Amino acid sequence: MGAGERPRVFVAREIPAAGLRPVLDACDASVWEGDAPPPRHELLRAVAGCDGILTLLTDRVDDALLDTAGSQLRVVSNMAVGYDNIDVAACTRRGIPVGNTPGVLTETTADLAWALILAAARRLPEGERFVHSGGWRTWSPMHQLGLDVHGATLGIVGFGRIGQAVARRALGFGMRVLYASRSRAQPAVEADLKATWLPLEALLAEADFVTLHVDLNPSTRHLIDAAALARMKPSAILVNTTRGPVVDGHALHEALRDGVIRAAALDVTDPEPIPPDDPLLTLEHCLIVPHIGSATEATRGRMAAMAAANLLAGLRGERLPTPVNPEVYDRV
Ligand code: DGY
Repeated sequence: MGAGERPRVFVAREIPAAGLRPVLDACDASVWEGDAPPPRHELLRAVAGCDGILTLLTDRVDDALLDTAGSQLRVVSNMAVGYDNIDVAACTRRGIPVGNTPGVLTETTADLAWALILAAARRLPEGERFVHSGGWRTWSPMHQLGLDVHGATLGIVGFGRIGQAVARRALGFGMRVLYASRSRAQPAVEADLKATWLPLEALLAEADFVTLHVDLNPSTRHLIDAAALARMKPSAILVNTTRGPVVDGHALHEALRDGVIRAAALDVTDPEPIPPDDPLLTLEHCLIVPHIGSATEATRGRMAAMAAANLLAGLRGERLPTPVNPEVYDRV
């Protein structure tokens, strides 16, 4: 980039103005206009020669893309807290910082996990379909009986920011809260949230609701497989708002079909979007929404602003506000 030239960037989808405006003001930016993500060949074409890239979780950033972009690439900014779409090691090897958007979507995602817990427990989608299709004739003592959430046992798998925010909401429902995670939370956090650590196997066996908040990595891929589902109570409900591949979808379908567990509520699937012929879509007791955990106006605005701040800092050669590979700054 010559002196006085604006940096060239690619923004992989239209994002809220709070993020797009500062990028357009400071850069020679090309923005992918489609509703769907850019197909791979378009993505590769668009990033060639760019100084920075603003990606979404639908855009794969790997060696091939980094090679195509070229050695002038200075930053990759992902508008998501999760970054399993990015080969971070490949970026680090090239000295490219990667940014994400932690913190700003914690409470919003925890709200959605709770919406799913309540909706699955009280069978809201079924009730809605019933009313809209004209099935509601009278009050019925036996119709659409669900599960109590208050006083039940909540099992939280992954106890980072979002897992803890989910636990905090459970206090209001008088629930017993269990959590499983690689490392124990500080005693003060456990006391504050009235949360008890258990190994995953024990948590699965005891919880009435199991909600997943681990990130996706090789050790959490299919963490919830047929064996894990078999450990759960037949009356239990599984909620997933993290990444689809944390659950083995085939095993989940069989478990729901065969009554191994009672119901599931998913914000994420594998793949996304879920194909129309996926057998999970045939099950009334499998509620699925389209990856909307962070989808509120305020939160998406904050995520976009944070992604823009990371992008612009990287372009200026400054440390990103929220780098996922801070080790890139330790290189000599
Ligand atoms: C994330 O940020 O990782 C969510 O899945 C989308 O908001």
